[in-house]
Amino acid sequence: MALIKALVLKEVKQLLAFDERPEPVPQPGEVLIKLKTAALNRRDYFITQGLYPGIKPPVVLGSDGAGVVAHTGEDVDPAWLGKEVIINPGRDWGDNPAAQSNAFTILGLPRDGTFATHVCVPAEQLHHKPAHLNWPEAAALPLAGVTAYRAVFSQGGLQAGQTVLITGIGGGVATFALQFAVAAGAKVWVTSSSPQKIQRAVQLGAQDGFDYTNEGWFKEFVKMAGAPQLIIDSAGGAGYAALIHIAAPGGRIVNYGATAGPPEKLDLYKVFWKQLRLQGSTMGSREDFSAMIAFVEKHRIKPVVDAVFPLAEGNRALQQMKTSPQFGKYVLTME
Ligand SMILES: NC(=O)c1ccc[n+]([C@@H]2O[C@H](COP(=O)([O-])OP(=O)(O)OC[C@H]3O[C@@H](n4cnc5c(N)ncnc54)[C@H](OP(=O)(O)O)[C@@H]3O)[C@@H](O)[C@H]2O)c1
Repeated sequence: MALIKALVLKEVKQLLAFDERPEPVPQPGEVLIKLKTAALNRRDYFITQGLYPGIKPPVVLGSDGAGVVAHTGEDVDPAWLGKEVIINPGRDWGDNPAAQSNAFTILGLPRDGTFATHVCVPAEQLHHKPAHLNWPEAAALPLAGVTAYRAVFSQGGLQAGQTVLITGIGGGVATFALQFAVAAGAKVWVTSSSPQKIQRAVQLGAQDGFDYTNEGWFKEFVKMAGAPQLIIDSAGGAGYAALIHIAAPGGRIVNYGATAGPPEKLDLYKVFWKQLRLQGSTMGSREDFSAMIAFVEKHRIKPVVDAVFPLAEGNRALQQMKTSPQFGKYVLTME
């Protein structure tokens, strides 16, 4: 029996076990991918901490992966064999572009994911690896890329020339949102707890940034940037009140996360008087995913990879996520 190597969650709040497991066999409609790289998301960290619904160990974590198709199952076009691919980690979105179905799942819980040398996925989840990306960049793209794309365009309705604010720019999704909005011709401002990350954002095309840990940062922001038509946020928490305060009349605030918890205060007077749209967003449909890949290829966008770790050292990368020193994505390599 062929064996693969994988990082397995056996118990929450414990290190992942670096184990050998039987090589998965592609079922009808599936392919086996020999992975070159995988990438981490905040989701993986939350799962290891027990802060995610439906955790059922043992499971191989990891939603993002890039590699080469090694076997095709029944009913799969054999032309996929040997192709360099990335994986759409969102499965069973359903027919409604406005929201995912109840059957929607994400690779890496409940199904075994990409923190492994091999993974089986349905062939319909495959996309050709964009040719301008190296293997770490390719793995960094899928989950964060589609989340940013849907938040900025499908839900945010971004138009060229608009003023956009992206909070917590060190985040993997936030960095893509910055790159996408800049490529679409917006004037993009950011917030961060780190001056160095603001500098990195400026190098990627941001106008400038503000430290959200400074009380009153938003007053300076409005003086310099005016009122943003679109705000992309994944923090919520105490900082959310400032976003409602500065949003332009008729503007949108799109949230794809709530890292800092629910807003402490929601000023509904401002929401209705300013005709704001508070918009939720989660990953994306198959159409969002395809559109995201096409956008990345058209604008030759390179995902920002902060650091690459060998698969065996995945726990080190996960532990670093606790304090978020990264700018962009952490990637695991299988070789
Ligand atoms: N709905 C979805 O489909 C979806 C998809 C992906 C992620 N998410 C969620 O979105 C959030 C970010 O995910 P990610 O993978 O991009 O995470 P990540 O790369 O781990 O992002 C961490 C960053 O969040 C920023 N941050 C933390 N607390 C903040 C606060 N109070 N105010 C503003 N920014 C703050 C920090 O930015 P600075 O270092 O710049 O201060 C930090 O570097 C998580 O809650 C995640 O679960 C949801």
